[in-house]
Amino acid sequence: MKGILLAGGSGTRLHPMTLATSKQLLPVYDKPMIYYPLSTLMLAGIRDIMIISTPDDLPQFQRLLGDGAQYGVRFSYRAQPSPDGIAQAFLIAEDWLAGAPCALALGDNLIFADHLSVLLQGAARRDSGATVFAYQVRDPERYGVVTFDAEGRASTLVEKPTHPVSHWAVTGLYFYDARVSTFARQIRPSPRGELEITDLNRIYLEEGSLQVEKLGRGCAWLDAGVPDALLQAGMFVQTIQSRQGMLVGSPAEVAFRMGFIDCDQLREIARSVFKTELGRQLQDMAGPAEPPAPLPIPA
Ligand code: G1P
Repeated sequence: MKGILLAGGSGTRLHPMTLATSKQLLPVYDKPMIYYPLSTLMLAGIRDIMIISTPDDLPQFQRLLGDGAQYGVRFSYRAQPSPDGIAQAFLIAEDWLAGAPCALALGDNLIFADHLSVLLQGAARRDSGATVFAYQVRDPERYGVVTFDAEGRASTLVEKPTHPVSHWAVTGLYFYDARVSTFARQIRPSPRGELEITDLNRIYLEEGSLQVEKLGRGCAWLDAGVPDALLQAGMFVQTIQSRQGMLVGSPAEVAFRMGFIDCDQLREIARSVFKTELGRQLQDMAGPAEPPAPLPIPA
């Protein structure tokens, strides 16, 4: 399975913070925002990832993330010339996908949950249909909203309804089978002029192959699209990290725990951020370096 990390858009709801930089490069506590969804994709076991952003912002992402070798993964980069919708990612990446199934993560979404890797790897293993995740929110009108029938099966999907009939929002993490680009070609721009991800999901829903997994109250799903949400996401990460001494949204940690990199490679990353608490934690995780082999004593 391949992965797409979509970090486009103009971040207008975060102006003036995003006048000179991409929203997905803003800090969420101690890391750039994009580290969180990147970690999620890696936790699903995905090692081939395309980052899609605006032509202006793409070079900054390349500077931040490089070719992925430091994490034992491969990054490709491609521009989305204008913000024509999330589902356009599958047209932009179609030749690169070359018929592979694909997960898509939105660059401003943060998911934190116990046993998340089990959930993600399960979704990545399904070989037909699509899987999305639903989370209860107070303000569903800001999101794609899903309703369920009496048997608990997804019944309708609506993008940003004025009068939502359910509190279940669809999160910005999607898993699709090999037909995703073909289906993306079938959708037409919405009234706001975008190829909506909700319209793509509805194609799967209507053919009966959309799995909607509910994330329970023990999970946290945050997006960081407006100033309050950005601050809350930062405080959430700070709270968990300082209390548990464990990292949230660290691609280096995920790479190490998934076996994509070894202790020496993790130590290398820790050295690159050595003045920070993050660097110290990665250093501890890697354990002490092997002492250098003793020099042979000349006879
Ligand atoms: C997008 C999707 C929406 C989804 C949300 C998750 O909204 O269109 O269906 O619920 O991401 O973050 P947007 O970021 O375009 O407001």
